[in-house]
Amino acid sequence: MSIKPLRKAVFPVGGLGTRFLPATKAMPKEMLPVVDRPLIQYAVDEAIEAGIEQMIFVTGRGKSAIEDHFDIAYELEATMRDRGKSMELLHQTRLKPGAVAYVRQQEPMGLGHAVWCARDIVGDEPFAVLLADDFMVGTPGCLKQMVAAYNQTGGNMI
Ligand code: UTP
Repeated sequence: MSIKPLRKAVFPVGGLGTRFLPATKAMPKEMLPVVDRPLIQYAVDEAIEAGIEQMIFVTGRGKSAIEDHFDIAYELEATMRDRGKSMELLHQTRLKPGAVAYVRQQEPMGLGHAVWCARDIVGDEPFAVLLADDFMVGTPGCLKQMVAAYNQTGGNMI
């Protein structure tokens, strides 16, 4: 049996986060920090550890902080460079060019709908879905363990 390698991960981040109000009134739930990193960074790091090559974010209105988080913060970097500060902490947020794609879920119609919005970017490939608001702790990471199991068995896995 030939098993297609898992290269893509979908991160549905288009929800309203109503259970976390008022914390999520102006900030996406997935940007809530645990110690020094937002939740979405933990999820992306877990995906990178598992060998994922393309991150697909399903975003919605008011979620632009997530795009900014994985972008270059040009002014911040320039100021830090001028002041001789180390850029090490910032570079954790860098993804390879082309490694991230965004698709907009215009209305938060539920998790299933969010995943469906990524269908054309996923194409006919196996893919992982990571919910950044479930904070996973494990060594190796949860997705890496799932990929190891998937490579042996194939099929769908929850
Ligand atoms: P949740 O049900 O935990 O998120 O969905 P929610 O809808 O934001 O939560 P509450 O009930 O209002 O507090 C799990 C994941 O699916 C995403 C969320 O952003 C979260 O990461 N999601 C949910 C979408 O992308 N689109 C949706 O329409 C709903």
